[in-house]
Amino acid sequence: MDPVIFTSEAEQTLTEILASLSFSRLVVLTDSNTQTHCLPKISQALPEDTVFISVPAGEINKNLQTCSLIWEKMTEAALDRKALMLNIGGGVVTDMGGFCASIYKRGIRFINMPTTLLSQVDASVGGKLGIDFQGLKNHLGVFNEPETVLIAQEFLGTLPQAELRSGYAEILKHGLIRDKAYFLELKSESWESQDWEKLIYHSVAIKNAVVTADPKEAGLRKILNFGHTIGHAFESYFLDTEGHLLHGEAIALGMICEGFLSFQKVGFSFEELDLLSKTLFQIYGKVDFSPEELDPILDLCLQDKKNEGSTVLFSLLNSIGDCTYNIPVTREEIREAILYYHNLKTA
Ligand SMILES: NC(=O)c1ccc[n+]([C@@H]2O[C@H](COP(=O)([O-])OP(=O)(O)OC[C@H]3O[C@@H](n4cnc5c(N)ncnc54)[C@H](O)[C@@H]3O)[C@@H](O)[C@H]2O)c1
Ligand SMILES: [Zn+2]
Repeated sequence: MDPVIFTSEAEQTLTEILASLSFSRLVVLTDSNTQTHCLPKISQALPEDTVFISVPAGEINKNLQTCSLIWEKMTEAALDRKALMLNIGGGVVTDMGGFCASIYKRGIRFINMPTTLLSQVDASVGGKLGIDFQGLKNHLGVFNEPETVLIAQEFLGTLPQAELRSGYAEILKHGLIRDKAYFLELKSESWESQDWEKLIYHSVAIKNAVVTADPKEAGLRKILNFGHTIGHAFESYFLDTEGHLLHGEAIALGMICEGFLSFQKVGFSFEELDLLSKTLFQIYGKVDFSPEELDPILDLCLQDKKNEGSTVLFSLLNSIGDCTYNIPVTREEIREAILYYHNLKTA
């Protein structure tokens, strides 16, 4: 079976997929929002004895406690190794559901049905599964492939605008790291009026090409991390706070900072840096933080590397559409990059 299937009729396609697989029982994982908005759209495709598990929505719940709850429900339902799990939701549900499926009884098969733009173009493709742990993003996880990823644009209809905009950051990233013409085309339209179907297809093709060439991130796949080292640090830093950032918002900030590092370290031109910064800034605005918050954020960038002289390896842009990886960057250089962002003018 093709690992990624695009459909404009989710319920019908899911019915066909389930009919083609043999399994003892189906378990469906949703979160509180996808249970309300997405499950009804495919419920006719589900067998009568389906086991339903719903967890509270949000990154804050992508943790071991929620996994425990999922495994408890699976155990209560006496699911065996031939059970099949269907994860319906954004990246939190597909990452955590895939992780739970991979661990339960040493692994049962699973299908991902991504329902946010971000998970359709990014999270549900590429086999990375996991949860957050002790405030660290995706700290526990495995590589494992779903049986299939079923992508249906119809789910996006109920997605809040902010979530749509968050997913758009990964689409912009795909252009920045791999396809300059794509980036320029995206830039020429206002983000709200994009043709999502076309973009989802193209972005998945870019991500798929990269992860197929390097499934375990030995080299090339690292380019997908552009914007993510600094972005994740901000995302983690604001995780438990009022002003918490959506993944794409954090990554947009991260791409501006790492664009600056690209300029400093690998010859990314100032014109392209300016274009990148202005484009992202216009869409995502400015994240406010005070200079006192810099050190804890830098600690998160460097994670366990406490030594003064230690470096972090970054994926940086040679030019728009061409990304390189394994570039060592020091704490001071990261500080400078974050200050570049901090000093950008809002107008
Ligand atoms: N595995 C990977 O390669 C990979 C790549 C990128 C991101 N991620 C992970 O993905 C997560 C972010 O994903 P996300 O942005 O999809 O977050 P999410 O799963 O939290 O979804 C965002 C919000 O939208 C709601 N929602 C989902 N679908 C909806 C719909 N159709 N209608 C209305 N509401 C809906 C959710 O309940 C949630 O409140 C992060 O945890 C990140 O680490 C993983
Ligand atoms: Zn991402």
